[in-house]
Amino acid sequence: MQSFAARVIEWQRQSGRHDLPWQRTRDPFRIWLSEIMLQQTQVAAVVPYYTRFLARFPDLASLASAAEDDVLALWSGLGYYARARNLHRAARAIVERHGGAFPEAFDDIVALPGIGRSTAGAIAVFAFGAPHPILDGNVKRVFARALGIEGYPGEKKIETAMWAHAGALLPPGDVEAYTQGLMDLGAGVCTRSRPRCASCPLQDECVARRENRIALLPTPRPKKPLPEKSTVMLILQRNREILLEKRPAPGIWGGLWSFPEIAHLGDAAGVLRTRFGAEVMTEGTLAAVRHGFTHYALTITPALLRVTRLERRAHSPGHIWLTPADAINAAIPAPVREILRRLDRD
Ligand code: ADE
Ligand code: SF4
Repeated sequence: MQSFAARVIEWQRQSGRHDLPWQRTRDPFRIWLSEIMLQQTQVAAVVPYYTRFLARFPDLASLASAAEDDVLALWSGLGYYARARNLHRAARAIVERHGGAFPEAFDDIVALPGIGRSTAGAIAVFAFGAPHPILDGNVKRVFARALGIEGYPGEKKIETAMWAHAGALLPPGDVEAYTQGLMDLGAGVCTRSRPRCASCPLQDECVARRENRIALLPTPRPKKPLPEKSTVMLILQRNREILLEKRPAPGIWGGLWSFPEIAHLGDAAGVLRTRFGAEVMTEGTLAAVRHGFTHYALTITPALLRVTRLERRAHSPGHIWLTPADAINAAIPAPVREILRRLDRD
């Protein structure tokens, strides 16, 4: 059976990309520039910037002697400008440390500003044909799926495991085609959504495909816990009815009917007197109701209050007295319905 790398290499030769502007050169300056531009930006967006940049700074010496502003100006629109500042700083470091010749040793490459382990690997491969693994976001996705690696790849432990796989899978030769093949697969075949498995050279051995776990791999970043908010909902009872008010739109639950809300239960009597002309007696609270929004979690404390006296005032719009049974069928938020069900039961 063909090895993982052999499949990738053969596929790259037949179906991979061969005429990107930074291919067919061994000039480490050009390869370095392309890898930096490609770090957070897609090929199509990079190409015109890459061409303009090289027209202005055709070699390392011209970049090293440039003013930072001129470098940044050529980067303008590409984003992540730390890349441009680091590129410039690295060019000067190469002049100082290596006499202006791009270093060939991996440890010297990775020591330069703006060059991480994966970018150093890509430069070592494409400029010097040296066997080094790469592991960018796209390659992590290919590995996670093809090898069935569980766990968020941004996590140190998982990343370390992936680097071990990346190193172990490296072929004895043809590292350029292999590395380019991994990149091309990640960018064009094993895409985040709807990967083109039928065109993938790894389809027969791919764990995610075999086990129907493509959508589950790579494991997404663990969600951070949502911020917690709390509110008190005032359940104002009069005879057999409760008071609902229409919530302002726009806003949370805008236009829906809900209980009046306050931040602190202690404020209830005063608020109810001013807003509704109601004197109340507190009867206690019900068990809290939790509700999850996209951006926070809300804990609702329902407070039971009985009206002892209601001032006769002009009917204020946006309020309605209903029995819990009738209110349940109104346009109300889910947690309000939950509270009404409890009231209706008791
Ligand atoms: N993304 C990162 N490096 C790349 C390269 N050399 N070719 C295509 N896409 C890439
Ligand atoms: Fe990705 Fe599909 Fe190839 Fe598996 S078979 S590596 S999921 S493209």
